Amino acid sequence: MAILVLGGAGYIGSHTVDRLVEKGDKAVVVDNLVTGHRQAVNKNAKFYQGDIADQEFMRHVFLENPDLDAVIHFAAFSLVAESMTNPLKYFDNNTAGLIKLLEVMNEVGVKKLVFSSTAATYGIPKEMPIKETDSQEPINPYGESKLMMEKIMHWSDLAYGIKFVALRYFNVAGAKPDGSIGEDHHPETHLLPIVLQVAAGSRDKLKIFGNDYETPDGTNVRDYVHPYDLADAHILAVDYLRAGHESTAFNLGSSKGFSNMEILKTAREVTGKAIPAEFAPRRPGDPDTLIAASDKAKTILGWNPQFDDIHKIIATAWKWHSTHPNGYEDGR
Ligand code: UFG
Repeated sequence: MAILVLGGAGYIGSHTVDRLVEKGDKAVVVDNLVTGHRQAVNKNAKFYQGDIADQEFMRHVFLENPDLDAVIHFAAFSLVAESMTNPLKYFDNNTAGLIKLLEVMNEVGVKKLVFSSTAATYGIPKEMPIKETDSQEPINPYGESKLMMEKIMHWSDLAYGIKFVALRYFNVAGAKPDGSIGEDHHPETHLLPIVLQVAAGSRDKLKIFGNDYETPDGTNVRDYVHPYDLADAHILAVDYLRAGHESTAFNLGSSKGFSNMEILKTAREVTGKAIPAEFAPRRPGDPDTLIAASDKAKTILGWNPQFDDIHKIIATAWKWHSTHPNGYEDGR
């Protein structure tokens, strides 16, 4: 049996491929390298460059690898702010891309899919922490594109028997502890990489978007989870589907919230650098607070996150950023 990892050259995908290879599992990777990096893919995984919406190409990948029985799907755009100004890019790549993928999976008879959903599907939550059963009313097109994917999966399960696990991640941060793979987006928009780029000297200062939110210090509160812990949850979700269980969704977070100011303070402690910062206007599409209830993943999947301390998470990210101030060698 082998697992097809779509978007396996991206930030979370590359950490998952690494974990699969470490465990001795066979991983086949597809990535169009639009945002991913070839160098991030573990050398012991089989790699194909191509787009998941290219059905001829995807048929070829399945035909060449008849031992594939499950797919982990990371191949999507994921920037909230960009989705606000270019929503069609998100509905096309993320939502329509899934439809193309499901058609081919149904055709070749591979009927297990674990895919990246997001906390952004919940919109502005009424209660904290957020449970999987809470209402999903996204406030940005990125979250909407992923909620549509969850719904498409639901109906595809009923009609074609394609079983799925939707993993709703909260904020992902950190890198492989040896610093050999990590987060590298161009342009970078995420908080922690920006904070650490300032610490590494490749950026002047941090702008903190908004200090008048309904939170203890006025800055947004987020729940941070390490990509290795996410990787383990994906592998457990494949096991869950292989055991014949029903389709479902799980939140993945640490169940602890940190404000943007707290992240800055912790990063200053971890790096020993001053990290200049200033307040700036709110960024459209940002909810005040997002904290996950992750008990369901712990109980049902047996998920046991190892990086349960924000200092530890930031220290792994710093190892990557301090040794790769310009990211991967491909320079993009
Ligand atoms: N922020 C700043 N300055 C920056 C960058 C970010 O203040 O330069 C703030 C944001 O306004 C927000 C917080 O830092 O308050 C976190 O922002 P990120 O861009 O790092 O992450 P998001 O919370 O916007 O989004 C991330 C993923 C989404 C996912 C979401 C779920 O990118 O895919 O987490 O919580 F949906």
